[in-house]
Amino acid sequence: MTKLNWGMIGGGEGSQIGPAHRLAAGLDGYFALAAGALDHNPAAGRDFGQRLGLAPERAYGDWREMLEGERNRPDRVDLVTIATPNATHYEISKAFLEAGFNVLCEKPMTVTEAEAEDLVLAARKAGRICAVNYGYTGYALVRHMRAMVARGDLGKIRLVVAAFAHGHHANAAEADNPRVRWRYDPAQAGVSAQFADCGIHALHMAAFVTGQEVARLSSDFVSCLPGRILEDDAMVNFRMDGGTVGRLWTSSVAIGRQHGLTLQVFGETGGLRWAQEQPNQLYYMPLGQRLQVIERGEGNLSPEADRASRVTVGHAEGMPLAFGNIYRDLGENLLALRAGRRAEPAVTLFPTAEDGLRSIAAIHAAVASAKAEGAWVDARPKLFR
Ligand code: NAI
Repeated sequence: MTKLNWGMIGGGEGSQIGPAHRLAAGLDGYFALAAGALDHNPAAGRDFGQRLGLAPERAYGDWREMLEGERNRPDRVDLVTIATPNATHYEISKAFLEAGFNVLCEKPMTVTEAEAEDLVLAARKAGRICAVNYGYTGYALVRHMRAMVARGDLGKIRLVVAAFAHGHHANAAEADNPRVRWRYDPAQAGVSAQFADCGIHALHMAAFVTGQEVARLSSDFVSCLPGRILEDDAMVNFRMDGGTVGRLWTSSVAIGRQHGLTLQVFGETGGLRWAQEQPNQLYYMPLGQRLQVIERGEGNLSPEADRASRVTVGHAEGMPLAFGNIYRDLGENLLALRAGRRAEPAVTLFPTAEDGLRSIAAIHAAVASAKAEGAWVDARPKLFR
């Protein structure tokens, strides 16, 4: 198989999300790590890069050095993953897109809507892919939910109920721990904490599965711990452009909940329930019949689910493999582009800069609504109105 050269910015040693990207990108043999600026500390980044097998001249000290080093190489990286803290995403993504690189950016794509809009336009102008890592949409059964909704198995979708509620920031004694405190400080985190960090995964998944976009929303934000400026719990009601009613709960103070991403979809003729912590089972209730458990890997699922499933039924598949499906989609797209052909529709399911922009617009809409005591506000990006 033709290998694509892959570069990574951030995701250094000890980072939370870096290892999942490296597992995911290497899974199908499409990508080989060829360059990186992996750490905010240049020496640590160079050292870690070489330990991961990078040539010394491609284990860069910072992203600007990487941009200059890669720009004119004949074997320059085909895709750059950006897994740095949120406030740096815009500047790095923009610079790489403008230099003609394809980008996979971690969420949230940017801090402001203007920045997000700018990245959408920069990617279009450069004719490059700008993807956003809503990696949970790579799960086989999430793709199966989408396929079931699209082929009408549930009839018209009345309700979508999403949650991303965990309890990892509930301990008041740890609220001043620097690793926790910055997340609730507007100077470092932006306008929203929990909704921007976790809620948007659930909101994006609701859109991905229903095939509809969020049109309007009304939100209630609270900070349960005293002294926290930004929200640690939020309830967001929304309406989708196809008429579906949406409910979303996100929290970081829900003691006892671990990851907490769940999605339920209720249509006229059936309901679905899926949870990230048990991703290999999907609960399906056809109206008037018995509850069914759909297992990832069993025969006769949708082509989208079959394609995204990697090990046989009964063996657990988890988060890095879901991220791996985003990388596989990107790999197949990039190889198709290189060969001058269009990619198959099946491999265009990865979330794009447009999805990233929709999330940033929703974050700002939710903040505005919360400040206006839950007033309903337009959640669509200005670019798409
Ligand atoms: P982290 O703090 O654990 O790691 C950040 C890494 O980036 C560190 O290695 C740090 O040295 C490096 N870094 C910081 N500034 C840099 C710079 N200017 N140049 C190069 N490297 C730099 O952060 P974590 O939790 O891994 O989050 C990173 C991003 O991934 C965030 O945007 C976060 O929202 C996102 N994330 C996404 C998840 C998902 O499910 N899609 C899950 C967790 C995080």
